[in-house]
Amino acid sequence: MDLIPEPAPNIRQLLAFYLEAGVDCALTEAPVDRLSEPDAPIAPVPVRETTPARPIREVPAATPAVPRSEIAPPPEAAIAIAREAARTAPTLEALCTLLENFEGCALKNTATRLVFADGNPQARIMFVGEAPGRDEDIEGLPFVGRSGKLLDRMIAAIGLDRSKAYIANVIPWRPPGNRTPTPQETQICLPFIQRQIELVNPDVLVTLGNPSTQTLLSTREGIMRTRGKWFDYDTGTRTIRAMATFHPAYLLRSPSYKRMSWQDLRAIAKALEQTVSPSS
Ligand code: URA
Repeated sequence: MDLIPEPAPNIRQLLAFYLEAGVDCALTEAPVDRLSEPDAPIAPVPVRETTPARPIREVPAATPAVPRSEIAPPPEAAIAIAREAARTAPTLEALCTLLENFEGCALKNTATRLVFADGNPQARIMFVGEAPGRDEDIEGLPFVGRSGKLLDRMIAAIGLDRSKAYIANVIPWRPPGNRTPTPQETQICLPFIQRQIELVNPDVLVTLGNPSTQTLLSTREGIMRTRGKWFDYDTGTRTIRAMATFHPAYLLRSPSYKRMSWQDLRAIAKALEQTVSPSS
Protein backbone atom coordinates (compact mmCIF):
# COMPACT_ATOMS: atom_id res chain seq x y z
CA MET A 1 0.00 0.00 0.00
CA ASP A 2 1.37 3.41 -0.98
CA LEU A 3 0.95 5.89 1.90
CA ILE A 4 2.25 8.96 0.04
CA PRO A 5 -0.72 11.00 -1.21
CA GLU A 6 -0.97 11.99 -4.88
CA PRO A 7 0.23 14.56 -5.72
CA ALA A 8 3.04 14.42 -3.13
CA PRO A 9 2.85 17.39 -0.70
CA ASN A 10 5.44 20.14 -1.03
CA ILE A 11 7.60 21.31 1.90
CA ARG A 12 5.19 24.13 2.82
CA GLN A 13 2.24 21.70 2.96
CA LEU A 14 4.25 19.20 5.02
CA LEU A 15 5.26 21.89 7.52
CA ALA A 16 1.63 23.03 7.77
CA PHE A 17 0.66 19.40 8.47
CA TYR A 18 3.27 19.07 11.22
CA LEU A 19 2.22 22.37 12.80
CA GLU A 20 -1.42 21.30 12.86
CA ALA A 21 -0.38 18.02 14.49
CA GLY A 22 1.35 19.98 17.28
CA VAL A 23 4.93 19.61 16.02
CA ASP A 24 6.18 23.18 16.26
CA CYS A 25 9.82 22.82 17.17
CA ALA A 26 12.82 20.68 16.19
CA LEU A 27 14.25 18.57 19.01
CA THR A 28 17.61 17.89 17.35
CA GLU A 29 19.62 19.28 14.45
CA ALA A 30 19.41 16.02 12.44
CA PRO A 31 16.47 13.64 11.97
CA VAL A 32 16.48 10.40 14.00
CA ASP A 33 15.09 7.22 12.47
CA ARG A 34 13.80 5.44 15.60
CA LEU A 35 12.87 2.37 13.56
CA SER A 36 16.46 1.69 12.53
CA GLU A 37 17.92 1.89 16.05
CA PRO A 38 19.74 -1.27 17.19
CA ASP A 39 17.85 -4.05 18.94
CA ALA A 40 17.78 -3.87 22.73
CA PRO A 41 18.10 -7.45 24.04
CA ILE A 42 15.05 -8.53 25.99
CA ALA A 43 14.71 -11.50 28.30
CA PRO A 44 13.54 -14.80 26.74
CA VAL A 45 9.78 -15.13 27.18
CA PRO A 46 8.67 -18.61 28.26
CA VAL A 47 5.84 -19.99 26.14
CA ARG A 48 3.11 -21.86 28.05
CA GLU A 49 3.63 -25.63 28.06
CA THR A 50 1.07 -27.81 26.30
CA THR A 51 0.73 -31.61 26.21
CA PRO A 52 2.96 -33.23 25.19
CA ALA A 53 5.55 -31.02 26.87
CA ARG A 54 7.57 -28.94 24.45
CA PRO A 55 10.88 -27.23 25.17
CA ILE A 56 10.73 -23.56 26.15
CA ARG A 57 11.03 -21.46 23.01
CA GLU A 58 12.86 -18.17 22.91
CA VAL A 59 11.02 -15.26 21.31
CA PRO A 60 13.30 -13.16 19.11
CA ALA A 61 14.32 -9.77 20.47
CA ALA A 62 11.98 -6.98 19.37
CA THR A 63 13.10 -3.56 18.21
CA PRO A 64 11.78 -0.88 20.57
CA ALA A 65 10.62 2.23 18.70
CA VAL A 66 11.86 4.41 21.57
CA PRO A 67 15.28 4.00 23.23
CA ARG A 68 15.00 2.28 26.62
CA SER A 69 16.28 5.41 28.45
CA GLU A 70 13.26 7.31 27.13
CA ILE A 71 10.66 4.79 28.33
CA ALA A 72 9.00 6.19 31.45
CA PRO A 73 7.63 3.82 34.11
CA PRO A 74 3.85 3.22 34.12
CA PRO A 75 1.94 6.25 35.55
CA GLU A 76 1.02 4.61 38.87
CA ALA A 77 4.65 3.66 39.51
CA ALA A 78 5.86 7.10 38.40
CA ILE A 79 3.42 8.83 40.79
CA ALA A 80 4.64 6.65 43.69
CA ILE A 81 8.30 7.34 42.80
CA ALA A 82 7.59 11.08 42.51
CA ARG A 83 5.86 11.18 45.91
CA GLU A 84 8.72 9.39 47.61
CA ALA A 85 11.42 11.46 45.87
CA ALA A 86 9.76 14.86 46.45
CA ARG A 87 9.17 14.09 50.13
CA THR A 88 12.86 13.56 50.73
CA ALA A 89 14.11 16.80 49.10
CA PRO A 90 15.43 18.95 51.98
CA THR A 91 15.92 22.14 49.94
CA LEU A 92 14.76 23.78 46.71
CA GLU A 93 18.18 23.08 45.17
CA ALA A 94 17.83 19.39 46.05
CA LEU A 95 14.30 19.36 44.62
CA CYS A 96 15.54 20.92 41.39
CA THR A 97 18.31 18.32 41.11
CA LEU A 98 15.79 15.54 41.79
CA LEU A 99 13.62 16.81 38.95
CA GLU A 100 16.63 17.07 36.63
CA ASN A 101 17.26 13.36 37.23
CA PHE A 102 13.63 12.22 37.34
CA GLU A 103 12.74 9.84 34.51
CA GLY A 104 9.09 9.28 35.43
CA CYS A 105 7.53 11.94 33.18
CA ALA A 106 7.81 11.52 29.42
CA LEU A 107 7.42 15.30 28.90
CA LYS A 108 11.07 15.58 29.87
CA ASN A 109 12.03 13.79 26.64
CA THR A 110 10.40 16.33 24.35
CA ALA A 111 11.14 19.48 26.36
CA THR A 112 14.39 21.34 25.78
CA ARG A 113 15.05 21.85 29.47
CA LEU A 114 13.55 21.85 32.95
CA VAL A 115 11.70 25.05 33.88
CA PHE A 116 11.94 25.00 37.68
CA ALA A 117 11.27 28.51 38.99
CA ASP A 118 12.06 32.20 38.90
CA GLY A 119 12.09 34.90 41.53
CA ASN A 120 12.97 34.95 45.19
CA PRO A 121 12.67 31.71 47.22
CA GLN A 122 12.28 33.89 50.36
CA ALA A 123 9.29 35.71 48.85
CA ARG A 124 6.04 36.02 50.79
CA ILE A 125 4.00 35.43 47.65
CA MET A 126 4.17 32.52 45.20
CA PHE A 127 2.46 32.34 41.78
CA VAL A 128 1.85 28.96 40.12
CA GLY A 129 0.90 28.53 36.47
CA GLU A 130 0.14 25.42 34.42
CA ALA A 131 3.17 24.51 32.31
CA PRO A 132 5.95 26.26 30.37
CA GLY A 133 5.37 27.34 26.79
CA ARG A 134 7.83 27.75 23.93
CA ASP A 135 9.66 30.85 25.28
CA GLU A 136 9.98 29.33 28.75
CA ASP A 137 11.28 26.06 27.26
CA ILE A 138 13.98 28.00 25.43
CA GLU A 139 15.01 30.17 28.39
CA GLY A 140 14.48 27.66 31.21
CA LEU A 141 12.47 30.21 33.23
CA PRO A 142 8.71 30.39 33.86
CA PHE A 143 6.54 33.15 32.41
CA VAL A 144 9.04 34.91 30.16
CA GLY A 145 6.84 35.11 27.03
CA ARG A 146 3.89 37.40 26.33
CA SER A 147 1.84 36.12 29.25
CA GLY A 148 4.93 36.48 31.44
CA LYS A 149 5.12 40.19 30.59
CA LEU A 150 1.50 40.57 31.69
CA LEU A 151 2.22 38.58 34.87
CA ASP A 152 5.04 41.06 35.59
CA ARG A 153 2.50 43.89 35.29
CA MET A 154 0.08 42.03 37.59
CA ILE A 155 2.88 41.64 40.15
CA ALA A 156 3.77 45.32 39.73
CA ALA A 157 0.12 46.19 40.41
CA ILE A 158 0.62 44.96 43.99
CA GLY A 159 3.85 46.91 44.35
CA LEU A 160 6.19 43.97 43.80
CA ASP A 161 8.53 42.58 41.15
CA ARG A 162 10.23 39.24 40.51
CA SER A 163 12.78 39.93 43.25
CA LYS A 164 9.90 39.86 45.76
CA ALA A 165 7.82 37.03 44.29
CA TYR A 166 8.44 33.36 43.49
CA ILE A 167 7.04 31.87 40.26
CA ALA A 168 6.67 28.22 39.23
CA ASN A 169 4.39 25.87 37.31
CA VAL A 170 2.53 22.67 38.19
CA ILE A 171 4.32 20.98 35.27
CA PRO A 172 8.02 21.88 34.90
CA TRP A 173 8.48 20.66 31.29
CA ARG A 174 6.85 22.10 28.18
CA PRO A 175 4.21 19.76 26.74
CA PRO A 176 4.93 19.31 23.00
CA GLY A 177 3.16 21.91 20.87
CA ASN A 178 1.78 23.45 24.11
CA ARG A 179 -0.82 20.70 24.32
CA THR A 180 -2.78 20.32 27.57
CA PRO A 181 -0.91 18.08 30.02
CA THR A 182 -2.63 14.74 30.56
CA PRO A 183 -4.14 13.97 34.00
CA GLN A 184 -1.36 11.38 34.49
CA GLU A 185 1.38 13.90 33.70
CA THR A 186 -0.21 16.32 36.17
CA GLN A 187 -0.43 13.68 38.90
CA ILE A 188 3.18 12.65 38.32
CA CYS A 189 4.40 16.26 38.66
CA LEU A 190 2.08 17.20 41.53
CA PRO A 191 4.24 15.94 44.44
CA PHE A 192 7.14 18.11 43.20
CA ILE A 193 5.18 21.39 43.06
CA GLN A 194 3.57 20.56 46.40
CA ARG A 195 7.02 20.13 47.94
CA GLN A 196 8.19 23.31 46.18
CA ILE A 197 5.33 25.26 47.81
CA GLU A 198 6.13 23.70 51.18
CA LEU A 199 9.80 24.67 50.89
CA VAL A 200 9.11 28.25 49.71
CA ASN A 201 6.48 28.49 52.43
CA PRO A 202 4.88 31.74 51.19
CA ASP A 203 2.25 33.68 53.12
CA VAL A 204 0.05 33.85 50.03
CA LEU A 205 -0.24 31.34 47.18
CA VAL A 206 -1.77 32.53 43.89
CA THR A 207 -2.93 29.93 41.38
CA LEU A 208 -3.08 31.22 37.81
CA GLY A 209 -5.94 29.83 35.74
CA ASN A 210 -8.08 26.74 35.89
CA PRO A 211 -5.61 23.84 35.66
CA SER A 212 -3.33 25.15 38.41
CA THR A 213 -6.30 26.08 40.62
CA GLN A 214 -8.11 22.77 40.21
CA THR A 215 -4.93 20.76 40.74
CA LEU A 216 -3.55 22.62 43.76
CA LEU A 217 -6.75 23.70 45.49
CA SER A 218 -8.52 20.36 44.92
CA THR A 219 -11.63 21.86 43.38
CA ARG A 220 -13.61 20.95 40.29
CA GLU A 221 -15.17 24.41 40.01
CA GLY A 222 -14.18 26.60 37.06
CA ILE A 223 -12.10 29.76 37.37
CA MET A 224 -15.18 32.03 37.08
CA ARG A 225 -16.38 30.62 40.39
CA THR A 226 -13.05 30.10 42.16
CA ARG A 227 -11.34 33.41 41.36
CA GLY A 228 -11.25 36.08 44.01
CA LYS A 229 -12.07 33.65 46.83
CA TRP A 230 -9.76 32.61 49.63
CA PHE A 231 -8.84 28.96 50.05
CA ASP A 232 -6.83 27.25 52.75
CA TYR A 233 -3.82 25.46 51.29
CA ASP A 234 -2.28 22.88 53.59
CA THR A 235 1.43 22.51 52.88
CA GLY A 236 1.73 19.60 55.30
CA THR A 237 3.47 21.81 57.84
CA ARG A 238 1.32 24.96 57.70
CA THR A 239 -1.95 26.27 56.31
CA ILE A 240 -1.46 29.21 53.99
CA ARG A 241 -3.95 31.51 52.27
CA ALA A 242 -4.47 30.80 48.60
CA MET A 243 -6.33 32.70 45.92
CA ALA A 244 -7.09 31.81 42.32
CA THR A 245 -7.10 34.40 39.60
CA PHE A 246 -7.16 34.44 35.80
CA HIS A 247 -4.16 33.13 33.90
CA PRO A 248 -2.39 36.04 32.13
CA ALA A 249 -2.66 34.17 28.80
CA TYR A 250 -6.44 34.16 29.28
CA LEU A 251 -6.41 37.88 30.07
CA LEU A 252 -4.49 38.51 26.84
CA ARG A 253 -7.28 36.74 24.93
CA SER A 254 -10.12 38.26 27.00
CA PRO A 255 -8.94 41.69 28.22
CA SER A 256 -12.38 42.53 29.60
CA TYR A 257 -11.62 40.22 32.55
CA LYS A 258 -8.62 42.33 33.57
CA ARG A 259 -10.87 44.44 35.80
CA MET A 260 -11.82 41.35 37.87
CA SER A 261 -8.20 40.31 37.93
CA TRP A 262 -7.17 43.70 39.39
CA GLN A 263 -9.84 43.21 42.08
CA ASP A 264 -8.25 39.86 42.95
CA LEU A 265 -4.83 41.50 43.06
CA ARG A 266 -6.07 44.21 45.42
CA ALA A 267 -7.40 41.52 47.78
CA ILE A 268 -4.04 39.74 47.56
CA ALA A 269 -2.14 42.98 48.35
CA LYS A 270 -4.40 43.58 51.35
CA ALA A 271 -3.82 40.05 52.64
CA LEU A 272 -0.07 40.53 52.33
CA GLU A 273 -0.32 43.75 54.36
CA GLN A 274 -2.36 41.99 57.04
CA THR A 275 -0.35 38.78 57.19
CA VAL A 276 2.63 38.99 59.46
CA SER A 277 5.36 36.75 58.09
CA PRO A 278 6.77 34.29 60.72
CA SER A 279 10.27 35.43 59.68
CA SER A 280 9.57 39.18 60.05
N1 URA B 1 1.98 29.67 30.92
C1 URA B 1 2.18 29.02 32.09
O1 URA B 1 1.24 28.48 32.67
N2 URA B 1 3.40 28.98 32.57
C2 URA B 1 4.45 29.57 31.98
O2 URA B 1 5.56 29.47 32.50
C3 URA B 1 4.22 30.25 30.77
C4 URA B 1 2.98 30.30 30.26
